[in-house]
Amino acid sequence: MKLNDKTILITGAAGGIGMRVTQRLVRAGAKVAMLDRNGDALEKIRLELADAPGEARAFPVDLLDRESRDEALRQAQQACGTFDLVINNAGMLSFRPFAEEDPVLLERMIQLNLATPMLIIRALLPDMLEKGQGRIVNIGSTFGSIGFGWFAAYSASKAGLRGLSEALRRELGGSGIGVSYIAPRAVRTPLNGDRVMRMAEATGMNMDDPEWVADQIVAAIEKGRKEVYLGFPESLFVRINALLPRLVDLAVAGQMRVMGKFAREG
Ligand SMILES: NC(=O)c1ccc[n+]([C@@H]2O[C@H](COP(=O)([O-])OP(=O)(O)OC[C@H]3O[C@@H](n4cnc5c(N)ncnc54)[C@H](OP(=O)(O)O)[C@@H]3O)[C@@H](O)[C@H]2O)c1
Repeated sequence: MKLNDKTILITGAAGGIGMRVTQRLVRAGAKVAMLDRNGDALEKIRLELADAPGEARAFPVDLLDRESRDEALRQAQQACGTFDLVINNAGMLSFRPFAEEDPVLLERMIQLNLATPMLIIRALLPDMLEKGQGRIVNIGSTFGSIGFGWFAAYSASKAGLRGLSEALRRELGGSGIGVSYIAPRAVRTPLNGDRVMRMAEATGMNMDDPEWVADQIVAAIEKGRKEVYLGFPESLFVRINALLPRLVDLAVAGQMRVMGKFAREG
């Protein structure tokens, strides 16, 4: 997909990955509707991109509030027209023993990471189908393919998003609407708080630069890639986990013990 003149909606546009993807899209000439709850940060990004060939429009919204989400989608569609590209990027995580998770936070995580992308796609897809061309991009995670202890709820939410992407891709075959599932490994963004950063260092977890990740996401969109796992060897482990999960159980057992120490601090 060529990005110039395309209309694009992205959630979590003020975050570590979303902001950088937005910058690249607008600099490539796209008109981007940015949805995020951080209105001031969206405004700053909009002003920064004022001289870029494309256009950034800010739609501050709490995506977990149904009425405001529906209203933001309505306004974004009114301002931009039918979207060529919808990027479900907003997400949250929790790093904690599952038995100690806050039930309210569990619901919010499934709502933001899985139900919200479903509802956004459901709202925008009819017009995209009528137009007969476009792409839905869901930002997943390596943890959506390799379930990680202490991140159980997050892993479950991203596994759900992966399943949604696969099913929709098959359902929409021949419609002109493509579906991409792009799964980064750990990335240096505000999503990962202090405990996760210390755990990553202690376990030697690979962490990518958000600029690089944004480059990969935009390249995957341009090439219309269906499923992308960023970073080696994690991309290989995803395949091995699908074929030989018991082997991965053994391989990660030591890492799980170290991770547990940091998870219990939360
Ligand atoms: N960073 C990683 O290690 C990593 C690895 C693999 C996959 N990913 C995925 O990449 C995507 C982007 O993550 P990121 O690292 O860029 O995270 P981030 O820096 O925390 O950005 C997420 C953005 O979404 C916003 N947001 C959260 N809840 C919202 C809500 N209810 N309504 C509207 N906006 C909301 C956040 O606002 P607040 O700042 O106010 O929370 C933030 O601006 C996520 O789907 C994440 O799961 C990240």
